[in-house]
Amino acid sequence: MEVVSSGCHGWVLLATVLIALSVGAEANANSVYSPCMDTTVLKNDGFTLGLVIASNRSFFLNRVQLSPCDLRLQDSLRDGKIALFRPKVDEISLLLVNHTELNPENFEGGGYAVAYAGKKQAVVSAPHFLANSSYRITSLSLVMDFDQGRLRSILWKNDGCKSCHGNSSFVCVRGECAIRSTNCKEAGGIVDCSLSIQLTWSGTDQRQQVLSSWYQMSNLNQYSLYGLYSNLKSTLTSQFNFIIRSTKWSN
Ligand SMILES: *[C@@H]1O[C@H](CO)[C@@H](O)[C@H](O)[C@H]1NC(C)=O
Ligand SMILES: *[C@@H]1O[C@H](CO)[C@@H](O)[C@H](O)[C@H]1NC(C)=O
Ligand SMILES: *[C@@H]1O[C@H](CO)[C@@H](O)[C@H](O)[C@H]1NC(C)=O
Ligand SMILES: *[C@@H]1O[C@H](CO)[C@@H](O)[C@H](O)[C@H]1NC(C)=O
Repeated sequence: MEVVSSGCHGWVLLATVLIALSVGAEANANSVYSPCMDTTVLKNDGFTLGLVIASNRSFFLNRVQLSPCDLRLQDSLRDGKIALFRPKVDEISLLLVNHTELNPENFEGGGYAVAYAGKKQAVVSAPHFLANSSYRITSLSLVMDFDQGRLRSILWKNDGCKSCHGNSSFVCVRGECAIRSTNCKEAGGIVDCSLSIQLTWSGTDQRQQVLSSWYQMSNLNQYSLYGLYSNLKSTLTSQFNFIIRSTKWSN
């Protein structure tokens, strides 16, 4: 098992947590545990991705979006938070983010999320709106798209508010189910506004096997997995314990 060696405390902590998360994964041949390194995967391998929450502005340098792994973003992402997950390739997973110490409303202009992985072939999702003082989006859907086992793109998907249609707890904001921020627990309301992300996969693995979980989920028209909690093979919870300085890498 390869663990990133570097003098940086962030990585030591990170490696420990990721190893703990991977216990019990039988067919896990992917030895890359850092979200800031390149790798090639097979179906059922573990795959590490990072998620950063920050203001939209902080993901860009001169209007060009960079990977959170890029040291040039270190300053602008100083106030952002990072969570790491290690789901299994082609397994539908629910990524839960414990917000207790982070309210995405508090970022200037609103909180945005970016998912990322890779170094030379750094792949980043577009920044996705999460919250401002009016609205909170609590459920997102993310597709990891691979080409012969190499990550090709990370895409946000939405279902045009189908999953919350007719539910008065929600409002439809830009095609997505949102909760009025005043109803969230942090604001004295009753709704748990923690973020959950449904993760699915598409494309092909290193041996050209088709990754089909995105196709399955979209066919079932079942974007909203949160209610089907018990059907999920894996639920990964992360606290925002990692800070951006852990984006340093060796070699
Ligand atoms: C985020 O920032 C970029 C770069 O400044 C800008 O082009 C883009 O329109 C912004 N997106 C939103 C939703 O504000
Ligand atoms: C979130 O974190 C807080 C503080 O660490 C903890 O008390 C709470 O139980 C956690 N919630 C979940 C759903 O894990
Ligand atoms: C929050 O975001 C929504 C959706 O983009 C927008 O309509 C609203 O004006 C924003 N509220 C604030 C206070 O910026
Ligand atoms: C509306 O959504 C909330 C939060 O997910 C849920 O607890 C509630 O049961 C839903 N209500 C209806 C009528 O579906």
